[in-house]
Amino acid sequence: MARYVVGISGASGMRLAHLAVSELARLGHTVELVLSRHAPSTILQEMGEEYASPTKFHESFKPEYRARIKLHQIYDFTSSIASGSCQHDGCLIIPCSMSTLAAIAIGLADNLIRRAADVALKERRKLVIVPREAPFSEIHLENMLKLARMGACIIPPQPAWYMNPKTIEEMEYFMLSRILDQFGIDLGVKRWC
Ligand SMILES: Cc1cc2nc3c(=O)[nH]c(=O)nc-3n(C[C@H](O)[C@H](O)[C@H](O)COP(=O)(O)O)c2cc1C
Repeated sequence: MARYVVGISGASGMRLAHLAVSELARLGHTVELVLSRHAPSTILQEMGEEYASPTKFHESFKPEYRARIKLHQIYDFTSSIASGSCQHDGCLIIPCSMSTLAAIAIGLADNLIRRAADVALKERRKLVIVPREAPFSEIHLENMLKLARMGACIIPPQPAWYMNPKTIEEMEYFMLSRILDQFGIDLGVKRWC
């Protein structure tokens, strides 16, 4: 089983982030989880009070999954994932705010999510960024282009209408399947091929 760093920043898309962590743990992977200082405000809006702190978010997972989800504190630079010597199979930032995106693009490693992404880049590990903003400004697009050129995968959370989803859950599961495809993880969602 693999080990993934999952960073959750304060952009919109918290249900997708929760689903990502849940599915990785359900499949038996280890998740090194970090929430930014601003993530809880967005979680409060999108998921409710019972999820709106790093501890509450962590405790919301089923106990058998939670055993594989390690919660890190956002300013704990002594954490394992702050170091390039910590071996893992990839880093996922979901959702990625424009602020976190900008910081990663200039190498500003001033919290544990940004540091983990910085480490993934310098160690040439898989870095998957799920940016959420609409519309994107020239600054956002330049930052995404810069990171894509460094090898990061930039994959906005976008539905595919041709899959004819019937519910928001189905749409979210499809979006997550495309994101986890980047790590070679197959959620078994219908494909064209
Ligand atoms: C309900 C809510 C939704 C937000 N959605 C977005 C978003 O989609 N994209 C974004 O870049 N920022 C969004 N923000 C603003 C970020 O939370 C804010 O820029 C914050 O500084 C991001 O910091 P972080 O990247 O360290 O989490 C949202 C804030 C709130 C309260």
